[in-house]
Amino acid sequence: MKPKSEEVEKAKRNAALEAVKHVKDGFILGLGSGSTVAYAAEEIGRRIRAENLQVKVVPTSYQAFMLAVKNGIPTTTLEEHPTPDLTIDGADQIDENLNLIKGMGGALTREKIVAAASKTLIIIADWRKKAKFLGENSQSVPIEVLPFAASLVNRKVTMLGGKPTLREGAGKVGPVVTDNGNFIIDVDFGLIENPAELEKMLKTIPGIVETGLFVNMADTVYLGRPDKVEKLERKK
Ligand code: 5RP
Repeated sequence: MKPKSEEVEKAKRNAALEAVKHVKDGFILGLGSGSTVAYAAEEIGRRIRAENLQVKVVPTSYQAFMLAVKNGIPTTTLEEHPTPDLTIDGADQIDENLNLIKGMGGALTREKIVAAASKTLIIIADWRKKAKFLGENSQSVPIEVLPFAASLVNRKVTMLGGKPTLREGAGKVGPVVTDNGNFIIDVDFGLIENPAELEKMLKTIPGIVETGLFVNMADTVYLGRPDKVEKLERKK
């Protein structure tokens, strides 16, 4: 049975509230992108007003920047703060080792850069995002590519066994153009038993800017349900 949308929204919010409990006064935060992160931004804004919490965020997309502005959260950059204390971000799929597929919102490149720069990465998601293997339920891997390289990347990922689809815009004709001026190719690789190996192979293809595979990056995942939150931690 399909879950009700209000149950899903409650689950996302519950996960976000748990993550924001980790935010301490003086923290520099990476602010991820997506609808679950929107709840985290609301809660950070609420704590700024209620507790006079002093924090700044490095936004991972224009959406994240706008969420920060809307919720009264000061923004900063990696130039000013190269090592954020904590990044809170969403995910599209999470496997048993806390490897992730991200990028259905098209913000994967900046998300990966900010996550890699941060001391800690906490992922927030509703329960439907958990999978035994990445790629389950036909979840594709978003790949950001230079427009000039799109046809080469299509051919190369097909040789690796993937089925590529150039992401088309909604509210715009033609391909989606990312915050970095690139295209997104969504590639269905079937079940991904070794995400680290796939990531390594993809990174050898000229024109791939970044992939939505986040391997060994998440420290903690809060998986929300309408009535509780499950905490998962990466084995190190
Ligand atoms: C954007 C992302 C998002 O974090 C991911 O798509 C999850 O979004 P949502 O919380 O809306 O399900 O990777 O590029």
